[in-house]
Amino acid sequence: MAKKNESTGLKKLLEDQLADLYYVEKQLTKVLPKMAKAARNEELQGAFEEHLNETLEQVGRLEQMFEALGRTAKAKKCPAIDGILEEGKEIMDEFKGDEALDAGLVAAAQKVEHYEITSYGSMKAWAEQLGLEDITALIDETLEEEKGADEKLTSIAEQVVNIEAEEGEEEGEEEDEESTTKRSNGRSKAPTRKVKSMVE
Ligand SMILES: [Fe+2]
Ligand SMILES: [Fe+2]
Repeated sequence: MAKKNESTGLKKLLEDQLADLYYVEKQLTKVLPKMAKAARNEELQGAFEEHLNETLEQVGRLEQMFEALGRTAKAKKCPAIDGILEEGKEIMDEFKGDEALDAGLVAAAQKVEHYEITSYGSMKAWAEQLGLEDITALIDETLEEEKGADEKLTSIAEQVVNIEAEEGEEEGEEEDEESTTKRSNGRSKAPTRKVKSMVE
């Protein structure tokens, strides 16, 4: 009996995680085009566009998983990803036109990837435990894409974005005192500004 309960609980966890990730991926199909548009660096722009295409595939894969479980695809609001995306929106607003914008975008995007990697990773372990081979294979495909996206972001940050942000800082130091003061004043107002939701 204990074994049966354990398996029922694990299946429920799997279904909850599926609904959570369905919400996450659908939000990301709305947010990634905005991040691509905001990015200054072409390689970063391309990475966001490429991951948008993968994300659309991932939505489809999650629907296949619901189907395999005999469930209707249903999204469950995920406050964790909403918070991460809200932070990303703040970066886009606060650093608009700033050399450091891309470094901020990479950081925000990697928070999302890490959330996805850990969520799909847990879900894969549960699916394996439950002997759901089809679902495990689908999760694996997505998991590889998430890891690939994360690695690509790391290499973009290391090769280009962080260097650009540093250069921007150096240029800023050469500015006269008046413009520096103006800029820092502008910055200090940013946190109190009402930030519209990125996904509306
Ligand atoms: Fe994803
Ligand atoms: Fe992703």
